Amino acid sequence: MSNDAGKQRAALAALKYIEEDTIIGVGTGSTVNFFIDALAAQKLRIRGAVSSSNASTERLRGHGIEIFELNAVGDIDVYVDGADECDPHLRLIKGGGAALTREKIVAAASQLFICIVDESKQVSVLGRFPLPVEVIPMARSYVARQLIKLGGQPVWREGVITDNGNLILDVHGLSIVDPLRLESQINQIVGVVTVGLFAHRPADVLIVGSAAGVKILP
Ligand code: A5P
Repeated sequence: MSNDAGKQRAALAALKYIEEDTIIGVGTGSTVNFFIDALAAQKLRIRGAVSSSNASTERLRGHGIEIFELNAVGDIDVYVDGADECDPHLRLIKGGGAALTREKIVAAASQLFICIVDESKQVSVLGRFPLPVEVIPMARSYVARQLIKLGGQPVWREGVITDNGNLILDVHGLSIVDPLRLESQINQIVGVVTVGLFAHRPADVLIVGSAAGVKILP
């Protein structure tokens, strides 16, 4: 079974958490794209969405779904997003699509964070996927040196500018045995906008799609 089929199964399973006439949070990536398309295809009518990226905004609008600014709606009931890696405690690495900052903001403002993944994203210890860190452009080299001190090998994702006008460092070689601590440590580095480690605010529900069907955690 391809990863896409697993992503699609997870995306379809997330629909049951969506209620009519609500404003939902929508993340970014290929798994979320399946969710957006499935949401548009079903009869249930939502009021609209708060989007975590320009790419998702465009796709949602393409389906006629209204976009709201987070500042205009207050807290969100349900946020649906993908991940690059997830551990058994529903802690995540995100940011492979460079949308980590807005994703983290929407996740923080949401009551229920539903993460949709195919089974290839599951790991016992986070870190195999290089950890994305969004940085202010003038701080790139400084932040990279601090990340090396934390045991990682940062690589500048050249040519990528985030929706917020910043840069991405992908940190290789980490075995993240204490995600809460590492998230706090990286957040303390001056010049870091966001680290793509979602440990202090993990997913509340993880939906894993695979050939066997759909597994929902916890
Ligand atoms: C976007 O910045 C990421 O956090 C995505 O959620 C993550 O990369 C998952 O993407 P896919 O669904 O395309 O694997």
